[in-house]
Amino acid sequence: MVRPKVILDVDTGHDDAAAIMMAGRSDALDLAAITVVSGNQSLDKTLRNTLNVCSELGIDAPIYAGMDRPLIEAPRHAPRIHGESGLDGPVFGPCSCVAESAHAVDFLIKAARSAQAGTYTLVPTGPLTNVAMALRLAPDLAGRLAGIVLMGGSAGRGNVTPSAEFNILADPEAAAIVFSSGARVTMIGLDVTTTLVLDDERLARYRSLPSRAARLFGASMERYMAACRAYLGEFPAMHDPACVAYVSDPEAFGVAECRVDVELSGSLTRGRTVVDLAGVTRKAPNARVALTVDAARFWAMLESALRRYPD
Ligand code: RIB
Ligand code: CA
Repeated sequence: MVRPKVILDVDTGHDDAAAIMMAGRSDALDLAAITVVSGNQSLDKTLRNTLNVCSELGIDAPIYAGMDRPLIEAPRHAPRIHGESGLDGPVFGPCSCVAESAHAVDFLIKAARSAQAGTYTLVPTGPLTNVAMALRLAPDLAGRLAGIVLMGGSAGRGNVTPSAEFNILADPEAAAIVFSSGARVTMIGLDVTTTLVLDDERLARYRSLPSRAARLFGASMERYMAACRAYLGEFPAMHDPACVAYVSDPEAFGVAECRVDVELSGSLTRGRTVVDLAGVTRKAPNARVALTVDAARFWAMLESALRRYPD
């Protein structure tokens, strides 16, 4: 079985960092590159966080800086959850990683066009600005990518407004472009990610594992958990790692082929992913929507990923 070649597109905050850890030494996929976008924090901060995580863990994937703002709206960040740095909590040593000179969007186009069709799976875990720009500049990417497995949206409630999830709401126009691009889109939304909740007991167990990644995970998740409990009144969900888990073990997820449209103009509903689960629109499906996940298989994947970074 050929291992998927993955390009992560991140807005490194706490759960993006966990996704990078899962992909960085995976035994189920190859991390080819990381592109970075504005989201949880400004691009300079999400880039620095990505460089720091890869430097700390010795992940040598090339890292590209991308779009520093959404297509239309002003940037939306999440400092109450991820802090002023975007990854409050861990203290990093000197960073040995440096961003590539090419722009992330140019890299995405060049990589997809220079490889055989179907080579790369793009895994966006932040707002879809980089991905939308690449698809607009190079519409052929939709057919050249093996797929786009994105963290975002929900068939039900949102997490920023009652309607909208953060990654979609941060750039709804970009999301609309991605869902209508013709690419093989898999939506890993709140329907499944909010069932993957890190509690105190599991955090204590993971952070005590004999591994550099476990220590970084612990320092990061301790702060993420405190913010989620204070601001959201809940334990933190493993939103972004769920995407890496899907690429690693898609059979652990239950998905449905659905039509997904993005609300752009509703004063109360802008950024909603309108998921036609019952097919009432009679529109052709344009995405696989994850509706269930085997949580035990997810946690086993995360724990084994953390163990793969020796002390
Ligand atoms: O709604 C959760 C998503 O928004 C996650 O990707 C988190 O990192 C933030 O980007
Ligand atoms: Ca993210």
